Amino acid sequence: MRRPIIAGNWKMNNTASAGVALVEALKPLVKDANCDVAVCVPAIDIPAVAEALKGSNVALGAQNVHFEAKGAFTGEISADMLKEYGVKYVIIGHSERRQYFGETDETVNKRTLAALNAGLIPIVCIGESLEERETGKTEAVLETQIKEGMKGIDDISKIVIAYEPIWAIGTGRTATAEQANETIAFIRKTCAEVFCPKCAEKVRIQYGGSMNAGNCKELMAMPEIDGGLIGGASLKAPDFSAIVNFDK
Ligand code: 13P
Repeated sequence: MRRPIIAGNWKMNNTASAGVALVEALKPLVKDANCDVAVCVPAIDIPAVAEALKGSNVALGAQNVHFEAKGAFTGEISADMLKEYGVKYVIIGHSERRQYFGETDETVNKRTLAALNAGLIPIVCIGESLEERETGKTEAVLETQIKEGMKGIDDISKIVIAYEPIWAIGTGRTATAEQANETIAFIRKTCAEVFCPKCAEKVRIQYGGSMNAGNCKELMAMPEIDGGLIGGASLKAPDFSAIVNFDK
């Protein structure tokens, strides 16, 4: 009932020309996908990649958006600027932004509401650190990230949630399919309590963290996992397309 969504997060990789070459290689490999497909690219790659994606089934995403519509915010990018190039998705609150760039649940919340207001689909990232998992704080951490970061969203199914355990990002250490499924079930239950049960049934929740061609089938077979947010394995067309085509 929930259509899976596989999105690549290129992070700070690929110049515009390298990005175009990557999506040109990717397009034929994913054209028959049975899920939503997106690539979230560095802001400066957006114009060229948008052009290259025209007419394909691969949607364009950004990696951040500012919460104000315009003004004196040096270095920031507004939702309208993204929209003009046909950007559909925007990653918000990635753990790297929380860790290195001072992102908090409050700024995540402001960016998410601004993105929704502008008609973008936020991919809101949440997840616990290794220390938090090992000390039994995972559920409390996620609950706060949901209650604070997603405050004021009228219909939670209008966003995509990415569950990314920080200890699994770029480490080659994937959460087991059961672990990911169980934690995502908790996220959905919390959304049902905080928002509404019907919207919680509809909201798509991705898993992210060392997902690759080898483990995607097992993860995607889990009933609660509705897709993936892919870092390293999204940088090569054969690797990313193997994940997109997880059901073939
Ligand atoms: P990796 O797939 O490289 O672990 O990165 C996951 C991620 O952070 C996607 O946003």
